[in-house]
Amino acid sequence: MENRKVRIALTKGRIEDKAVGILEKIGFDVTDLRNKGRRLILNIPNEDIEVVLAKAADVITYVEHGVCDLGVVGEDTIMEHGGKFCELADLNFGKCKFALAVKKGTDFFAGYGVKTVATKYPKVTRNYFEKQGIDVDIVKIEGSVELAPLVGLADGIVDIVETGTTLKENGLEVQTDVAPISARLIVNTVSLKLKQERILELVNLIKGVIE
Ligand code: PRP
Repeated sequence: MENRKVRIALTKGRIEDKAVGILEKIGFDVTDLRNKGRRLILNIPNEDIEVVLAKAADVITYVEHGVCDLGVVGEDTIMEHGGKFCELADLNFGKCKFALAVKKGTDFFAGYGVKTVATKYPKVTRNYFEKQGIDVDIVKIEGSVELAPLVGLADGIVDIVETGTTLKENGLEVQTDVAPISARLIVNTVSLKLKQERILELVNLIKGVIE
């Protein structure tokens, strides 16, 4: 592990652009990252750094296994996935929230029957309702969870809300906020020991450009 470049895993998609922006602000040449095509490992010229692009949960897996030293990933994935790594900074972008949403005009907490919640995040949902002391049935959905209450599968959903547009366009509304979310910088615990100086130098550079 000691001989290869410092490897940073970035989450593809929604928070990728902001993460690349941070590297650019530090002064790194991100031309390769901006013109990546279908490539998954990108070089930062003249630096001992390479960047890997992966899906959020995989960023955690690569960092946990130590094949990537640093990772940029949403707190939503950290909360659902968990794992063995150190969280070093709140990057202050990718801000959104977990919320419990229902069909407009309905009240999730009305009545006494056990309610059904559809979600892509069963662990987050379970933890939330356990803390509230409320018994619910949880149904795991893989995508477009907003559909579940519309077709009668669930009384509510726990999902990510950013602008609120998806809920609005599907006749849903937030019943209550569950947790705020933002992008986080994580590091492999062994890398932090073995490459401490360089890793902390990079972390400080990143912290220095966080808005
Ligand atoms: C998330 C989430 C909502 C949507 C909310 O999905 O599941 O569907 O974003 O955003 P809004 O409040 O701005 O409308 P995402 O687009 O990340 O896709 P996914 O289904 O792959 O998670």
